[in-house]
Amino acid sequence: MSNFDIAKIVDTSDQWIYERTGIKNRRICSPDGGEYPTDMACRATEMALERAQMDVNSIDMILFASVTPDMQIPNSSSILQTKLGITNQCACMDISAACSGFVYGINVADSMIRSGSMKNILVVASEMLSREIDWKDRSSCILFGDGCGVAIISATDESDPSRIIATHLSTDGTGKKFFEKPIGGAVTPYTKEILEEDDWYMKMKGGEMFKVATRTLAANAKAVIKKAGLNLDKIDWMVPHQANQRIIDTTGSLLGIDSSKVIINIENVGNTSAASIPLAFHEAVDDGRIKKGDLILFDTFGAGLTSGATVFKY
Ligand code: UT7
Repeated sequence: MSNFDIAKIVDTSDQWIYERTGIKNRRICSPDGGEYPTDMACRATEMALERAQMDVNSIDMILFASVTPDMQIPNSSSILQTKLGITNQCACMDISAACSGFVYGINVADSMIRSGSMKNILVVASEMLSREIDWKDRSSCILFGDGCGVAIISATDESDPSRIIATHLSTDGTGKKFFEKPIGGAVTPYTKEILEEDDWYMKMKGGEMFKVATRTLAANAKAVIKKAGLNLDKIDWMVPHQANQRIIDTTGSLLGIDSSKVIINIENVGNTSAASIPLAFHEAVDDGRIKKGDLILFDTFGAGLTSGATVFKY
C-alpha cells in the first residue's frame, strides 16, 4: 500500500508522510485468510529451516513475539507448531513486548541455550498491524505495515565464533500511556456499544514516542556496547527498529555512528513492530551487505515502554 493509496483514505499526502517518516510503501496482509501472523511465520520458518539445513523436528522451542497474534487463546506459537507439522511436542510460548519482542525473544533463547536446557529455538516476530490500526487516524495509520521475520538460535561449540555477546534489556512503565490499546482486555472487554463507537484501536502519542525513542535507543546502544567490552567503531552494522527515518537518523547522530553502517528499509515496509529488525537484517544478509563474522548491533524500543539492544557476531 503506497502513500498515495493512504491519501485516498485519510487527509494526508505522499510528501508529508515521506518527509516526516521516510516511508513510501507498506505491505498489508489479505484479510481473507491465508496471510495471518502464523501463516507468514510458517513460510518464513520454512525458508529459515532450508537455509539452516535443519529438520522441523529439531526445534526445541518456539518463542512468538507479536502485538497482533492470530487470537488471544491459544498462543500463536502453538498454532504455528501444528502449521509447521512439528510432532516433537516442543515448548511454545508467546512474548508480548511490542516492537521490542524480537530482541527480547532472541535473548530469552540465548539464555535458555546457555543454561543447557534447549539446543535450537525458533524466534518469530510476526505482525498484522493493519487489523489493529485506526484507519481514520492519520497520525498513526500512515506508519505501520504487516510483516514477519524469524531466526533459529542454536547452540554452537567453542570453535564457532558466531554468538550473542551482550544484551541490555529495559522497560520504563511510566511511559505506558504513550502507546496503548486499552480496549479488548480484562479491564475493558469489547461490548456491543464499544464496537458500535468504532474506537477500540491502538492509540499512540507520536510526539512523546519520538522523544523517548531517540533517547532510549542511543542509551541502550551505549550500554550494550560497554557490556560487550567494545567500542562503537568495532560494530560493522547497526540494525535499529524501523519506526521513523528521523528517529533512526537522530539516534545515529547521538551515537556518532557512520550512517553507511546503519541498515534501513523503512521506505518500503513501514514500521512492522517486532518484525522490523529481522526484516531489515534479512534484506541486508540477502543483498550481501551483512556477512558471516560481522559484528551486529540490534537496537529497539516500543510500547510499554520496552526497549533493548543486543550485540552479536553473525
Ligand atoms: O514503533 C514504535 C512506536 N511508534 C513511534 O515511535 C512513532 C514515533 N513518532 C513519529 O514517528 C511521529 O511523531 C509521527 C510520524 C507519528 C508524527 O510526526 P510529527 O512530526 O511528530 O507530527 P505531529 O504529530 O507533531 O503533527 C504535526 C502536524 C499536525 O498539524 P498541526 O497541529 O501542526 O496543524 C498534525 O495534525 O502534522 C499534522 N499531521 C498530518 N498531516 C498530514 C499529523 N499526521 C499527518 C498526516 N498527514 N498523516
